[in-house]
Amino acid sequence: MQSDHTSPLLALDNITVQYEKSDSLAVEQASIVVYPGEIAGLVGESGSGKTTLGLVAAGMLCPKQGQVVFNGRCVDMRERVGMYQHRRNVQMVFQDPAGALNPRMTIGEMLDEVLYVHRQALGMRDRTRREQRRDQLMDAVGLPKSMRHRYPHALSGGQRQRVGIARALAVNPKLLVADEPVSALDVSVQVQILNLFKKVNEELGQACLFVAHDLAVVRYMCERAYVMEAGRVVESGLCRLLFSAPEHPYTRKLIQAVPDVEKGLKLRKMSLSESN
Ligand SMILES: Nc1ncnc2c1ncn2[C@@H]1O[C@H](COP(=O)(O)OP(=O)(O)OP(=O)(O)O)[C@@H](O)[C@H]1O
Ligand SMILES: [Mg+2]
Repeated sequence: MQSDHTSPLLALDNITVQYEKSDSLAVEQASIVVYPGEIAGLVGESGSGKTTLGLVAAGMLCPKQGQVVFNGRCVDMRERVGMYQHRRNVQMVFQDPAGALNPRMTIGEMLDEVLYVHRQALGMRDRTRREQRRDQLMDAVGLPKSMRHRYPHALSGGQRQRVGIARALAVNPKLLVADEPVSALDVSVQVQILNLFKKVNEELGQACLFVAHDLAVVRYMCERAYVMEAGRVVESGLCRLLFSAPEHPYTRKLIQAVPDVEKGLKLRKMSLSESN
């Protein structure tokens, strides 16, 4: 969804991050915005700072400098109530669904727990209501209700990532930060999960910051994207222009490193039609 006239849902303004005991900057003066309802891409090679910037967006990492502005309000990392709200508003979906799920809890227990912890904010003090919501979430991500008794190890990679998405959606976030959510998955499953993100975006209107190193994936998912190199945002714009007429040498290099962006996309589209 392109939003020329709305103000950003999220603005990361001049963000600089330095990890403890590191003498270099993981992110340096990076600025990006995500508009309500859009899927914005963040692309760059390994180590360019994508995850770091995603963690800052989700309020899980405090920048050394810069501001996180959400819905027009500056997010203060030291302020407990504001941070609780921000962390609920912005949910992350991680690359490795197995590592992100508790191996000792069933899918149902995991979802029940999130809904219980946030019952007040979600207006779900009633247990039956939470159980209905759990079933609804499983349905929304394409998992049969009967799977709620399963443990993560008894699911496929794609199913685990569906659980990760359901858990993120449970708290009605306004923004999802999806950090390479399909890179650990088989190509045929990748398309299904990408389409699930699109469906969620269209049906629920949630915005998404979609992190990937795969240009074909970003092009498939996003109208707009940011390109990161060595901690800096070096180029941004509409994907169709970014990838057909890149201005920055690094973007050109990225595209050359994946000569088959278009071909990759076609392959995915093929498996997409096969999977439907
Ligand atoms: N916890 C940490 N402590 C110290 N340095 C870190 C930490 N996490 C990341 N870094 C460093 O910060 C820089 C940016 O890392 P980041 O994980 O954000 O990159 P990325 O673009 O997500 O890479 P990838 O595509 O491999 O996931 C890298 O140089 C990395 O080594
Ligand atoms: Mg990363």
